[in-house]
Amino acid sequence: MNSEALTSLNDIDRNYPVPRVYDFLSCPENSGFLEYVFKDPFGCHVFPGDIAGYPLDSFFDDMDRDIGQAKQIHLWSYIPTCRYRCHFCQYPTVILNPQATSSRAVFRDLVDCNIKEAIMWLQSVPCLAQAEVGEFNIFGGTPSLLPEPELRRLMDFYRSHFNFSAATMRFEGEPGTLTNDYLRLLKELGFTKISFGAQAFNDRIITACGRMHSAEDCVKTIYNAREIGFEWVSVDLIYGMLGQSVDDVKYDMEKTLELELSHVVCTKLHMEEFMKKRTGVSGERASLWQKKGPGNINNMNFPGLGKQYQMRELVEQYLLPDYREHPTMYFHQNHQRPEKWKGLITDLDAQYPEVAIGLGGSSKCTRAEAINITGYKKYKQALDENRLPIEDSRGVSSLHREVNAFKMALSTLVPVNDNVFRQRFEGRSFFDNPIICRALMTLIDKALVTADADRVTLTPDGVTLVEAIINTQFVTPEA
Ligand SMILES: C[S@@+](CC[C@H](N)C(=O)[O-])C[C@H]1O[C@@H](n2cnc3c(N)ncnc32)[C@H](O)[C@@H]1O
Ligand code: SF4
Repeated sequence: MNSEALTSLNDIDRNYPVPRVYDFLSCPENSGFLEYVFKDPFGCHVFPGDIAGYPLDSFFDDMDRDIGQAKQIHLWSYIPTCRYRCHFCQYPTVILNPQATSSRAVFRDLVDCNIKEAIMWLQSVPCLAQAEVGEFNIFGGTPSLLPEPELRRLMDFYRSHFNFSAATMRFEGEPGTLTNDYLRLLKELGFTKISFGAQAFNDRIITACGRMHSAEDCVKTIYNAREIGFEWVSVDLIYGMLGQSVDDVKYDMEKTLELELSHVVCTKLHMEEFMKKRTGVSGERASLWQKKGPGNINNMNFPGLGKQYQMRELVEQYLLPDYREHPTMYFHQNHQRPEKWKGLITDLDAQYPEVAIGLGGSSKCTRAEAINITGYKKYKQALDENRLPIEDSRGVSSLHREVNAFKMALSTLVPVNDNVFRQRFEGRSFFDNPIICRALMTLIDKALVTADADRVTLTPDGVTLVEAIINTQFVTPEA
């Protein structure tokens, strides 16, 4: 067994209970799971295709066919500007001073590129213009840096070229830039949901990750957004960060309850390269913390695996009475609805296509997926040469379509229902799929799931380890 991984698992805060998954992970026959969580790839929201080198024409044909049949789609536009780079972040970003005159041209170019790319998508996928957009998201980066005229230009374009008749609109910002004026502008443009990263409610931790706002700024943004009329304010928190203790996460949870956040995303800090796992927005370059390694920085350490699971259990302990987790890491108050865009792409009765426009975006349907270029220069060059800035596309074989559908459904944490599965796959049960069936035998044996005639349910350990389950258990048997 990997002794480094075991040492990390044994890094436990004695003031809190030993985490529930300790026994499972310390068991020699589960070393594959320990190995996986120790390396911590960020892979639970990606379901890559198994056919490499898939031709772009086939990718677009597949998208067109799936989009034509789907009830709705998830459409997103990625704006990569940021005014600083956080030490944990690998997302493709363009760092600038929003006040500098030179930044105006960058914002204009970014919106031009986004619009040009979207027009090329509309030409390549004829069904796209009519498809009902379920949710439209502007993700970042920090899109709240976009000057008003550029944001209006972008929105005019999307509204006039896509079918927004049933769309909810969600916008991702950053607390230091979501001013009251900007929030009012978003409201006027039709956005009803906003999300932003706080990462923690403790200034010492926020500063240690290189962010230029305070916890107070986060709290003010939440209250201001509510006052302006956003009933949906989602806040991102990370656990496992530099210098963060189990007590700090307890404080974040107390604050979450005190603020009565309608939605909160609690992610473990991921240090493995995103790009390797083709994650939602693929990584561009190593984060500062990755470059420095997991050791001691400025007399602060990263909590080991044991403490990370104690943190995760605190999140559950504080949130689960009043919140539900759906999908993994995304918590919503019981009387609120889960994240719509996540449901559109992962719920077993939906799993609709998503189209991502912008640097590093990833688009997919049941038959194929593609990721965009992550370097801004290369991205812009592709568009200047009238090429879609797609880095790589993959197809999904019929066997893996079922596997991906099952894995996506597992990631929602909702029991996977075989009757719904059969409706998707012309009567085929998930037990008929050799990869799923083999995985289920192991998972039942290890008490990570329970199964009855038509339902598979994650056990509490299974919920905690769902990312490892999805990424290690559904493998093609050796020929
Ligand atoms: C790409 S950011 C966009 C939000 C906005 N720029 C902000 O920082 O407020 C979306 C979220 O991804 C999460 N994130 C980014 N890098 C991460 C990492 N290495 N591990 C875990 N979560 C990460 C952060 O919680 C962040 O708020
Ligand atoms: S976490 Fe947000 S603000 Fe920080 S660098 Fe990444 S995208 Fe920019």
